[in-house]
Amino acid sequence: MSTLIRGGTVVNATGAVAADVLVQGEKIAALVAPGFEVQADTVIDATGKYVIPGGIDGHTHMEMPFGGTSSVDTFETGTTAAAWGGTTTIIDFAVQAKGTSLLSTLDKWHSKADGNCAVDYGFHMIVSDVNDTSLKEMESCIDAGVNTFKMFMAYPGVFYATDGEILRAMQKARETGATIMMHAENGIAIDQLVAQALANGKTDPVQHGLTRPPELEGEATSRAIALAKVTGSPLYIVHLSASHALDAVTKARDTGQNVFAETCPQYLFLSLEDLAKPDFEGAKYVASPPLRPKEHQTELWRGLRTNDLSLVSTDHCPFCFKDQKELGRGDFSKIPNGMPGVEHRMDLLHQGVVRGELSLERWVEISSTTPARMFGLYPRKGVIAPGADADIVVYDPTAEQTLSAATHHMNVDYSAYEGMELTGKVDTVLSRGKVVVDGDGFHGGAGHGRFLGRDLNQYLV
Ligand code: URP
Ligand code: ZN
Ligand code: ZN
Repeated sequence: MSTLIRGGTVVNATGAVAADVLVQGEKIAALVAPGFEVQADTVIDATGKYVIPGGIDGHTHMEMPFGGTSSVDTFETGTTAAAWGGTTTIIDFAVQAKGTSLLSTLDKWHSKADGNCAVDYGFHMIVSDVNDTSLKEMESCIDAGVNTFKMFMAYPGVFYATDGEILRAMQKARETGATIMMHAENGIAIDQLVAQALANGKTDPVQHGLTRPPELEGEATSRAIALAKVTGSPLYIVHLSASHALDAVTKARDTGQNVFAETCPQYLFLSLEDLAKPDFEGAKYVASPPLRPKEHQTELWRGLRTNDLSLVSTDHCPFCFKDQKELGRGDFSKIPNGMPGVEHRMDLLHQGVVRGELSLERWVEISSTTPARMFGLYPRKGVIAPGADADIVVYDPTAEQTLSAATHHMNVDYSAYEGMELTGKVDTVLSRGKVVVDGDGFHGGAGHGRFLGRDLNQYLV
């Protein structure tokens, strides 16, 4: 079965060119100069549109038990929403519960995802119990295609790891080539601020932001970088939100340390003002680290341009407003932490192109090519080139759309971007050669997506 995507502009991280793309089976067979006669079973007209590698969202939480409840997108609904938004690969987090093994955790996450995903998927592993056994098991996880391990400097009593535990895991990462991913917020200090706020009767969602000041993200980021330096471990800072943390990452990268960071659309487009919305509406925006005052956004866009921020993931962790976010009425610390977003990352980042914050090529790089290289999937993913998986998005740069819970495909009862008007929209999506989205029609389904065992980070110096 062959498909020809004709008449579009192929945009890779390295440049944009007018070319037709020939797909044979699950793979890209050739890029063809416009005008050359090529036979194909099916032709997709991409005139006036971009033809880009499918998006790779390196940070999602489907069906994640957290905050006394569970994130509401299943692997099926979450990957279906991802496909609608032009994301053809997700990397989700398996979560080790204290007292359990990493390998049984991995098995558990495979049984949640296998046969249920609409697009390809991989796993990172959250390590919440550092001991001799789990450190040894990191090696088996790497053999099983999971070589990125997330740790938390936040959430004491839940996922929190001491500096000593982090140091030991980093030593193992240094030994094996794995990357430690870090949730960098000083959770011990934050817990005191939270307790003080509640004792003073400050219970509204905005307190979530005020009790997690950017300085405590900056401090934890610097501490993680120091521990990574001492051990020689690669370090990847997840969901970076504050300029204080970005400064620390920039400094480390300038010295040639293997330090990388992602930010998320919510930190580029939303702010503390959203957390401060009245009548408990701010609960929709509770995630950690919290949304920051607007001035941080300028720095984050700058960081994306200068490659101090390597890429953008969503940290998609949806909880419904009704019954889930509402658990925190009268006590902001009980609002489940997390926001939906897997469907809109490509579109929101395209606004960066529309507004002149990003070049077209950088849009593709931070949403697809760099995640592919960072998470050991390149050149199978992240590029329109012969031999790559035919994960392809035909993107209409001039279409207008308005984001809304009424029209999105995520299994959550609100949109964090309700009413936001965007320029640009996904037109057609191919996942390994199969058309899964075509205009307003979905032709994919659970079980199409395959597990991706991943190689090591390709950026290590
Ligand atoms: O609030 C967040 N970010 N929820 C998801 C879990 C995490 O820390 O990434
Ligand atoms: Zn986190
Ligand atoms: Zn997360």
